Amino acid sequence: MRIFAISDLHVDFAANLALVRSLSSVDYVADVLLVAGDASHRLDRAAAALTALRQRFARVFFVPGNHDLWVDDGEGPLADAAVETSLQRMASLEGLCRQLGVETEPAAVGEIRVVPLYGWYETTFSDRLHGDAPMDRISRRWADFKRCRWSGDLAEDDVRCHYFARLNEDRLTGAQEHVITFSHFLPRPELLPPVQVLRFKELPHVSGTDHLERQLRAAGARVHVFGHTHIPWDVTMDGVRYVQNPLSYPHERKRRRQEGIRLVQVG
Ligand SMILES: [Fe+2]
Ligand SMILES: [Fe+2]
Repeated sequence: MRIFAISDLHVDFAANLALVRSLSSVDYVADVLLVAGDASHRLDRAAAALTALRQRFARVFFVPGNHDLWVDDGEGPLADAAVETSLQRMASLEGLCRQLGVETEPAAVGEIRVVPLYGWYETTFSDRLHGDAPMDRISRRWADFKRCRWSGDLAEDDVRCHYFARLNEDRLTGAQEHVITFSHFLPRPELLPPVQVLRFKELPHVSGTDHLERQLRAAGARVHVFGHTHIPWDVTMDGVRYVQNPLSYPHERKRRRQEGIRLVQVG
């Protein structure tokens, strides 16, 4: 049984859903796939993608990304979202996962423990590497600030970030020696390229959280899979292999001359 990783399916693009459906129906029937968030902001489309993956893999694990928690796509509230807040949206999505047999809880895969980790970015995450950035500029240009909806204290950035981190605390211990963790967001700012090469210069401030690094270390991870920045990555730092394998948007694949869908083996 092999374990593969992918993230950022973004099947709102028909080309992306077609690529998901282009995966072999026979090659992976004994294998596991980790999907590190951003399937779609529409539940019906997320269902289409996850259904296609469940038909091809023995087991599929999923953790939500920021796009999965949008409750408004810019043209008003989403028609399929009988929900008002992004947390309710997350509950609906996890309900869908249960229906489809997609796993969202830590579980053993043979000798390996697979641990999905929730998260949300903290805007100070990369200050030590990239310097701080004006918040008004970030909130004007980053869609989550308009598309997600948080109630009560969760409207505060740092409260939200702590909230998601707390959801992970009882996921960090288990019997297996070999652990693979995965999250949508980045666990450390070194997993970003220099800001000079970024098209969206504020990306470092909406990309990750230090909680994830602390938690993946506490869990004893040897491999950590992440997504979100749509920048392929495979590096080992301080004894942990960090992997991002994003399907990304069609124009991003074109820019990096990626044809088709690829999977990266992480276990
Ligand atoms: Fe994404
Ligand atoms: Fe994302």
